[in-house]
Amino acid sequence: MKMSPWLVLVAGLASPLAFAQPQPALLNDKGAFVADMVGKMTLDEKIGQLRLISIGPEMPIAQLAEEIKAGRVGGTFNSVNRPHNRLLQNAAMQGRMKIPMFFAYDVIHGHRTTFPIGLGLASSWDMGAIQLMASTAAKEAAGDSVDMTFAPMVDIARDPRWGRTSEGFGEDPHLVSEIARATVKGFQGSLPVPADRIMTSVKHFALYGAVEGGRDYNTVDMSPMRMYQDYLPPYRAAIDAGAGGVMVALNSINGVPATSNTWLMQDLLRKDWGFKGVTVSDHGAIVELMRHGVAKDEREAAKLAIKNGIDLSMADSVYLNELPGLVKSGEVEMREIDNAVREVLGAKYDMGLFHNPFLRIGVAQDDPPDLDAESRLHRPAARDVARKSIVLLENRNSTLPLAKSKRVALVGPLADAPIDMLGSWSAAGNSKNAVTLRAGLSAAVGQDRVVYARGANITNDEGIVKYLNFLNWDTPEVTQDKRTPAAMIEEAVAAARQSDVIVAALGEARGMSHESSSRTSLDLPQSQRDLITALKATGKPLVLVLMNGRPLALQREQQEADAILETWYTGTEGGHAIADVLFGDYNPSGKLPISFPRSVGQIPTYYNHARLGRPFTEGKPGNYTSQYFEEVTGPLYPFGYGLSYTDFALSDVALSGASMTRGGKLEAAITVKNMGQRAGETVVQLYIQDVAASVVRPVKELKDFRKLMLKPGEEQVVRFAIDESKLKFFNAQLQNVAEAGTFNVQIGLDSQAVKQKSFDLQ
Ligand code: BGC
Repeated sequence: MKMSPWLVLVAGLASPLAFAQPQPALLNDKGAFVADMVGKMTLDEKIGQLRLISIGPEMPIAQLAEEIKAGRVGGTFNSVNRPHNRLLQNAAMQGRMKIPMFFAYDVIHGHRTTFPIGLGLASSWDMGAIQLMASTAAKEAAGDSVDMTFAPMVDIARDPRWGRTSEGFGEDPHLVSEIARATVKGFQGSLPVPADRIMTSVKHFALYGAVEGGRDYNTVDMSPMRMYQDYLPPYRAAIDAGAGGVMVALNSINGVPATSNTWLMQDLLRKDWGFKGVTVSDHGAIVELMRHGVAKDEREAAKLAIKNGIDLSMADSVYLNELPGLVKSGEVEMREIDNAVREVLGAKYDMGLFHNPFLRIGVAQDDPPDLDAESRLHRPAARDVARKSIVLLENRNSTLPLAKSKRVALVGPLADAPIDMLGSWSAAGNSKNAVTLRAGLSAAVGQDRVVYARGANITNDEGIVKYLNFLNWDTPEVTQDKRTPAAMIEEAVAAARQSDVIVAALGEARGMSHESSSRTSLDLPQSQRDLITALKATGKPLVLVLMNGRPLALQREQQEADAILETWYTGTEGGHAIADVLFGDYNPSGKLPISFPRSVGQIPTYYNHARLGRPFTEGKPGNYTSQYFEEVTGPLYPFGYGLSYTDFALSDVALSGASMTRGGKLEAAITVKNMGQRAGETVVQLYIQDVAASVVRPVKELKDFRKLMLKPGEEQVVRFAIDESKLKFFNAQLQNVAEAGTFNVQIGLDSQAVKQKSFDLQ
């Protein structure tokens, strides 16, 4: 007989049921257990469960333990320390109801081991690799007594000025939805959440990536068709994959903040999508209802939020202070409080905490003596995933890979920058464990072949440095070299002259691509541009290794550099991973999950834009067509683009039929051949265009993809199944339909260079 998951969880515990205050007999029936418990709670105890507070300045630990014992806190976030959380859990066990606490944390792209940032992970187009990141991070976080992560972050981003573009997985609904599924599977696994996994809460629901102008926290105004078609699918995918929680966005949507948006939270999330888990407000979002101007005071803010189904209030005390009075006056019904409490207790049940409150805290004798110990890291996995996340943008005259016998001038403000390797939201990652590019190159070819010079500061703009150092980092991260820019450049040029090739690590300090770090420019800062100009003048081959959290505008650099590697922020093992690619120990296979505009003025440049009445057409006279007349039309690097050290050739597309009946299926096949001398991976991408429909449809949409490895000379047939689900869209009535007519099937190795064949849906 198969053991019930609960029996597996509690196996080995001396007396697991001793923790459960109400009816132990009900413990294996979630609904009955939670209902019984809610029935026994006082109003104050119920309200206490809805409070999620941040460990830290908000409250000293001794006071926090007292609050917990009194039943006035449901969970905390920002503590990843077992003794600490054990103390708090023990306090909970001394409370009247003995309801366990849960401990949450932003486990976004790793935990102790930092993997590439979201955009990097997405560039791998490798769901196995992404799932490995999530399961590894979950294991490390669970080992640090974390029960829940505020992830995955699946906000579609089409405006790279938005600093949080770095955290997400790019611009495409299909790719981001696939990643949403892979991350939920990896972090959380099944429900109940096993001891070595953590519950997910998908964020930021909804549409946070569409803030106007890419300015963080700005408003969102969007047609329902666009929401349903492009922005909502990834949240839905995470929920369908079993995400236990949803974090609610800070922005307003069509005039109503998400936190008080009944259409969003009730009609869509609960009724249409049938979400059964717990909802969490974002940091301080309930109080912000006053600043949005939809609540006149905290009382009204609390009332709006609880009635809207915001179960946990993060980092404020409004529920605690206001709900008792609101219930007393009858403005909020007990039923509404009970609904929220039921979700919180249900989530704790699914985290396994009623069966064992110490499930992820463990026993004191097993506590790690050193949280950052080498033995706690997963370096091989991090290196492997990081290599897969790197995108080769340019490679003139096969500048890369470099021969290991070459002497390398390594320059740039990011060449030896451990903190920046980690990228933002690097959770419990410690920069002391990070391998910089300098360390990675030295390990690969020996220190004496690497001549290092910093060459430039990230920026010479002291105002920007001040802003970045004022962000919530514990210690200032951007340190300025006090030498003059000219002196630094001179040193770098001297290093270049003594070397065979220049590797310049340039880009953004990690704080430039973060929450609250929106930009008006996508250019490399002037200090770094000046460095490139000077390096270029030496005539030595110039390789740019970019580290940044958003697409940059690289027209100038494209002309100046011989090769460009987009590495994003690669994480703990970044330096080794980049060296693997530079020297050809790994053949780059990353593909862009987001388009790179030519300039900031060209935004948005997302590939799946709507068909137009006057589209710009390559090679045709340009007047009175949709374009910016001062600049070449279209992105500099399109969605899905990325080079390899080998060449792949594609055959024509073969379709198994010229028409499809309702409920039927077609197969699209294409042969991919490795034409070069090296083994390599590539991503074959399937796009579909609906030729004529009842509403304006995108020029094309990604519907499927396959990543495959081919040896030199090897060829493989890639087959994609096409059924009605791939032809469906949301029409003007928001019905998900496939309409009869012609469809163009396009297959390619990026979103632009595609082969096409058509068929009709009858
Ligand atoms: C962010 C969330 C994050 C939360 C808790 C907020 O500022 O918007 O993404 O999960 O803080 O750290």
